[in-house]
This record gives sequence, structure tokens and C-alpha cells, in this order.
Amino acid sequence: MQFVLLASALFVLVITRGVPIIPSPTIDVLVGPNCHMCEVILNNVRYEYHNNFTNVSVDQLRQSLYQQCDLNLNGFTDQECHKIADKDSADILEQLQEGTSSYRICQRELLC
Ligand SMILES: *[C@@H]1O[C@H](CO)[C@@H](O)[C@H](O)[C@H]1NC(C)=O
Ligand SMILES: *[C@@H]1O[C@H](CO)[C@@H](O)[C@H](O)[C@H]1NC(C)=O
Repeated sequence: MQFVLLASALFVLVITRGVPIIPSPTIDVLVGPNCHMCEVILNNVRYEYHNNFTNVSVDQLRQSLYQQCDLNLNGFTDQECHKIADKDSADILEQLQEGTSSYRICQRELLC
């Protein structure tokens, strides 16, 4: 898991600054990019379903998450994203149906 966080932190730093800078090993720096990406992915999924998950199935949500993983991530972090979709789609769907915020869902996934 540390590797995922580090890989994704480096990825974001490369994208945003153009130069890979080794982040200081604080939790905030390492967790930040995953947290943001998790929120972006969930917000895109909300948009896709007009934030109405009444009749959305776990399989449908899983497919949407796969799609968002592929659009927003690549390599190892994309694979980790797929694993989360495989493991937690039912749980995430329930929370989306209950109106839980993206940030809180990402907190539960230990990404924020
Ligand atoms: C949500 O979707 C369901 C069926 O898919 C529909 O019956 C319901 O009216 C929708 N709710 C809102 C608030 O749009
Ligand atoms: C939503 O699902 C329920 C139960 O599966 C079904 O009875 C209803 O017709 C569906 N509504 C829509 C708009 O698809």
C-alpha cells in the first residue's frame, strides 16, 4: 500500500510540476493525490447517474468505476483502483444511495 501511495504521489508531482520531486515522507503528501483522485472518480460516477443510484446495480457501478479508473489512472494505480472496485462496489453503492459524500466514502477506503 505504501508503494501505491508513493507511486501515485510521484505520478501527480510529475504531471503538475514537470519534474519529479521526491516528496517528504509525511502522510499528508502521500495520501493527498489518492484522496483527490478518489473524489474525482466518485464525482464523475455521480455525474454519470445524475446522482441517482436508486436502480443502479452493483455490476453497473463496478463497470462505471472500472471506466473511471482507466480514464484517470494508469499502470499500477489503475490496477489498485480496479481491485477496490472489485472488492467494494457493493459497499460504495450503498453509501452513494444513502447520500454519503465522496470525501467520506474515500475516507472509508482509507484514501483520504
Ligand atoms: C431516480 O431514479 C428512479 C429510477 O431509476 C426514478 O424512479 C426516480 O424518480 C429518480 N429520482 C430522482 C430524484 O430523480
Ligand atoms: C427500479 O427497480 C425496481 C425494482 O427492481 C423496479 O420495480 C422499477 O421498475 C425500476 N424503475 C425504473 C425506473 O427502472
